[in-house]
Formats: sequence, C-alpha cells, structure tokens
Amino acid sequence: MEFDVPALITGGASGLGAATARALAARGAKVALLDVNLDAATALAAELGGIGLKCDVTSEDSVTAALAAAEAAHGPARILVNCAGIGNAARTVSKKGPFPLDLFNRVIQVNLVGTFNMIRLAAARMVELEIMGEERGVIINTASVAAFEGQIGQAAYSASKAGVAGMTLPVARDLAQYAVRVMTIAPGLFLTPMLQGLPEESQRSLGAQVPFPARLGHPTEYAKLAVHIVENAMLNGETIRLDGAIRMAPR
Ligand SMILES: NC(=O)c1ccc[n+]([C@@H]2O[C@H](COP(=O)([O-])OP(=O)(O)OC[C@H]3O[C@@H](n4cnc5c(N)ncnc54)[C@H](O)[C@@H]3O)[C@@H](O)[C@H]2O)c1
Repeated sequence: MEFDVPALITGGASGLGAATARALAARGAKVALLDVNLDAATALAAELGGIGLKCDVTSEDSVTAALAAAEAAHGPARILVNCAGIGNAARTVSKKGPFPLDLFNRVIQVNLVGTFNMIRLAAARMVELEIMGEERGVIINTASVAAFEGQIGQAAYSASKAGVAGMTLPVARDLAQYAVRVMTIAPGLFLTPMLQGLPEESQRSLGAQVPFPARLGHPTEYAKLAVHIVENAMLNGETIRLDGAIRMAPR
C-alpha cells in the first residue's frame, strides 16, 4: 500500500499509536487519531496535520461517527492501525475473592471486541474503494507477547490478546477476496506511558530481562514494523512478535 492515503490510528493519542501516527504522517499519510482521550489526540493531530477524534472503540455508534468524520476530512481510509488497549492485573482467585467479572469483561471489550468492531466497520468502507496498485487496504492490530505467555494476574489481558492473534488469520481470509490485508504485531516490553510511570530502576530491570537488545523497546520500533507491513503486500494473516526474544516468566 502507498503511504499518501488516509489512515486511522486507534489509541493514536499515546504510546505505540502515537509513534505510528508520526511515522505514517511523515510518509505522507493523512492521519486520523481515534482515541477516548480527545485532548491528547487533538494536540498530536495538530502537530501532524491530521485530525483528532473522540472515539470509544467498544461502541458501534462512536466508531461509526468517528469513521464518518475522518472520511469527511480526509476521504476514505485505506490504512487502519488498532492500538487502543487497556491492561489490568487480577488473579483468578485472590484474598479479595474471585477475579471480578466486570473487570474481565472490560478488558475483553476494549482489547478484543473493540479491535474487531474497528476492523468490521472500517473494512466495510474499504471494500467499497477502487483497488490501488493491487490492494484496497491494510489493517494492523496490536496483540502482545502476553497472548502466548501470560503472566500471573494476566488472565483477562492474555485472553484478549490471544483473541486478537487468533482472529488475524480468519479475518485476513474473510477480507482476502476484497484485497484487504490483516496483520497483527505482538509487542514485548515497550517504553510507553504505561511503563514510563515505573521508577527508572524498575524500567532497567524489566529491560534487562530481554535477551537482546537488553532494553525496553522504543515506540518508534513498533512504528517501523507497522510501516513495513503497510508497504509489503506479501505480509498477510500473520502475527509477528516484536520482542527482542523475550519469553515472559510466570511473574
Ligand atoms: N507498551 C507495551 O509494552 C505493550 C506491550 C504489548 C502490547 N501493548 C499493546 O499496545 C497497545 C498500545 O499500548 P501503549 O503502551 O501505547 O498504551 P497507551 O496507554 O500509551 O495508549 C493506549 C491508548 O488507547 C486509548 N484507549 C484506551 N481505551 C480506549 C477505547 N475504549 N477507545 C479508544 N481509545 C482507547 C488510550 O486513551 C491511549 O491513548 C495496547 O493495545 C497494549 O495492550 C503494549
């Protein structure tokens, strides 16, 4: 896919999504940042010559409105990068009792259902477009290494990310007839606001667990892979680990 097309980035206000928005905009994409944090999305969008839109990926109405607004501003999107996500930590059973079901549901709703909600609604628009080169569009999702090695307390998060990895191939197969590709990136430990909140010593010790390079990943390194996926048409239906060979231990 060419870069000078309209692109949607969910969670684009922060972390991996923000870095991807910067990288795509630098290559000529018209970026729309869809985020529940409208202030941060608008501020970054202004810097990138794009548009910031308030959007809750779990809501059909909210996503439909954001897609319409993005299309009105930039034309129909051919790139969707799903970075919106949340984490939580609770054990299946703890001294406080069983894992609160509403907490479990919330993580599944945002990370898994929200990702699919974006895919289905954005893809419904992409399939109506003219073919550009040999494809109509490309969709990139964000799982996590926790999809494969969830740690203690990550039952909900791991299940949500395993769901994202698991739907990558069937969704790619569904959309193949429309020349729309679907890929997923499974990051290891990246230095985003989530981990920036930790003391430097904790950041260092987390980074030291990575075989090579023994450090946290930079959001720009996620963005570089997203950029490569956009331009390499043979990448489809696969989840790529981006993790410096880390395999998470139980805790
Ligand atoms: N940082 C890491 O080490 C790491 C590792 C593996 C996977 N991931 C995944 O990468 C993605 C991005 O993570 P990040 O570290 O950049 O986090 P982040 O918190 O910096 O950014 C996430 C963004 O998503 C937005 N968001 C949350 N819920 C939303 C919703 N319902 N609708 C729309 N936007 C919503 C937030 O406002 C925020 O701007 C997440 O899915 C996360 O699970 C991150």
